[in-house]
Amino acid sequence: MTVLAFDRRRRERAGKSDRSYIKHTFAEKVVASYVNAYRVNRPDHKVLLIDGNAGDGEGVVIDSYQEDLFVSDIMSHPTPEILTNVAVQVGNAEVVLCEKDNTKRAALYQRFPDALILADHREAPSTVRPEHRYVLWLSDPCGPRDHGVKYMRQVGNRVATDFVVILNHGCIARINSTISPLWETSRELYGNYADPQCWREHLNKRYAVLSGVIGQSNNFRFRIMVVSNYLATCCYRHPFTEVYSANGMQTVEAFKENER
Ligand SMILES: C[S@@+](CC[C@H](N)C(=O)[O-])C[C@H]1O[C@@H](n2cnc3c(N)ncnc32)[C@H](O)[C@@H]1O
Repeated sequence: MTVLAFDRRRRERAGKSDRSYIKHTFAEKVVASYVNAYRVNRPDHKVLLIDGNAGDGEGVVIDSYQEDLFVSDIMSHPTPEILTNVAVQVGNAEVVLCEKDNTKRAALYQRFPDALILADHREAPSTVRPEHRYVLWLSDPCGPRDHGVKYMRQVGNRVATDFVVILNHGCIARINSTISPLWETSRELYGNYADPQCWREHLNKRYAVLSGVIGQSNNFRFRIMVVSNYLATCCYRHPFTEVYSANGMQTVEAFKENER
């Protein structure tokens, strides 16, 4: 067994922490599962992969190994790298990376010269062209305000789209636990982001599949939710636990049974 040592209290950089590899590893499996499932059925279609909240494109250290005198770090794959790798893997795919922060965007230009880089995900719908037959939108903001659901919906209205959403569970729970009138607007706008049925409804999809809560760090507990018209193989496995549809909520096991 490998035991990874972490600083007792290291302040998290905005949007990333020493343990972000947990989120990256999980997101990578989900994205790969959906895009490959599409590609198997539609070998010739052009695909567009949108990262709505790309960050700076640098992973975090998972482990280190030593070869001769040299020690190398093994890095996790952050979301822009996940999409870029999957695009290469499936072929005939384009990548759009959206990042609001100028410095992070400059790093993305360096790291991902083949991607289209946008300063705000509200521009993402305008990148969808008629030849794009499928889109996967990955949404990974720091807090609920920056999902850009309106723009996700616009893309979904134009072309077949699957949404992989990383929900900051702790942040939404904190907003919902407030009672002060100062938080009323946030409660109204983002309180229902904890409800997969609202996502399903907003994005006009048959299913929302939700993972359990994953405690990445003291400050970041997240869930991954897929909003789609079908379930790819990743959704039938732990840590996905709940499937929401027009029939209400079912456990993944019950859903599987009913499908037979
Ligand atoms: C949690 S970080 C992203 C981490 C990254 N996905 C990764 O894998 O490490 C969220 C990012 O969303 C960006 N962001 C917030 N609002 C945005 C918007 N409207 N358009 C594009 N990026 C945005 C922030 O600047 C921040 O870098």
